[in-house]
Amino acid sequence: MKDIKVGVIGCGYWGPNLIRNLNENPDTDVVYACDLDKGKLERIKLRYPNIDTSMDYKDLLRDDRIDAVAIATPVFTHYAIAYEAIERGKHVLIEKPFTSNVREAESLVDLASQKGVILFVDHTYLYTGEIKRIKELVNSGDIGDLYYLDAVRINLGLFQQDINVIWDLAPHDISIIDHIFGEDPVSVSANGTSHTSSGIEDVAFVTLKFQGSFIAHLHINWLSPVKIRKIILGGSKKMVVFDDLDTGSKLKIYDKGIMFARVNEKVSYTNRIQYRIGDMHAPHIESVEALQVMIRHFAECVKKKKRPLSDGVAGLRIVRILEATEKSLRKGGIKIDI
Ligand SMILES: NC(=O)c1ccc[n+]([C@@H]2O[C@H](COP(=O)([O-])OP(=O)(O)OC[C@H]3O[C@@H](n4cnc5c(N)ncnc54)[C@H](O)[C@@H]3O)[C@@H](O)[C@H]2O)c1
Repeated sequence: MKDIKVGVIGCGYWGPNLIRNLNENPDTDVVYACDLDKGKLERIKLRYPNIDTSMDYKDLLRDDRIDAVAIATPVFTHYAIAYEAIERGKHVLIEKPFTSNVREAESLVDLASQKGVILFVDHTYLYTGEIKRIKELVNSGDIGDLYYLDAVRINLGLFQQDINVIWDLAPHDISIIDHIFGEDPVSVSANGTSHTSSGIEDVAFVTLKFQGSFIAHLHINWLSPVKIRKIILGGSKKMVVFDDLDTGSKLKIYDKGIMFARVNEKVSYTNRIQYRIGDMHAPHIESVEALQVMIRHFAECVKKKKRPLSDGVAGLRIVRILEATEKSLRKGGIKIDI
């Protein structure tokens, strides 16, 4: 018996992936789907004849069968839909980026807490085997002190009409950094430019600075001729490369680094640096669709009233950083304290 009845709002590119995974999960069942576009609903109906459809999301929210809604609409609509859903006591699974600004994110977090419903943000990468493994390596101390994270997420991307490339792609990397490092950055600076008349930035470079010497850099770009999805995490003991497009081993752990001889030793500067060039290890990580794992966790949180790994508070932290990137962009890339 599938206990959790779900309505899915937004059946464009991502919504159907949620519907498929929600239907494949033993605890969740999509009973209603909504989109402003009739054609998209007809395609859903062809594949899932038992799902009711509507062009008005309020129909889903009024439906007493529905325990939870999944929201996969453009970000500028997230707040209003999620707010109404929570007010009606529905659990909410909402796509990244959580909201368009901090004020909206805080309001949803407060309301969900008042209403006692689960507010879950789909930061999909946190549910990949590779990020889970990296987090374990960091927690166990195997990576050592964290030095930097360098993320490249570029391709000839789908130009969005409402958000720039940072709001579109950076939530993935920022949520990964938030999860792995576990601390808020102290400042952010962002540079970006638009190459269309829309003025919406399509290429951007973002730098996040943290307390201590950890630093992160994101390169996000909708105008690249090649697709790259790569993260390098440098630590004092190990360095890790996560290449999401590698069909063989996505995760590689390098035993490489440098060591400094003690300063008072009478050796030249060059001789003080010693290089460690050890083995590379590519651990076997079971290939499971991240969305499947994410939905499993969502269902568990709803059933057991557990706090999600990517809850509204985590979503708010990411939006706070995104909002700061926006301020930095508008001020020519200056450092914005967070
Ligand atoms: N987690 C991920 O990896 C991932 C990947 C892609 C997209 N997303 C996120 O999913 C969301 C949707 O992105 P997409 O690429 O599917 O966009 P999309 O434009 O392909 O689809 C959005 C759909 O929402 C519908 N819609 C808009 N307003 C609506 C409303 N008020 N009521 C009902 N339907 C409405 C549109 O008609 C459209 O079909 C965004 O927040 C995006 O960032 C997440």
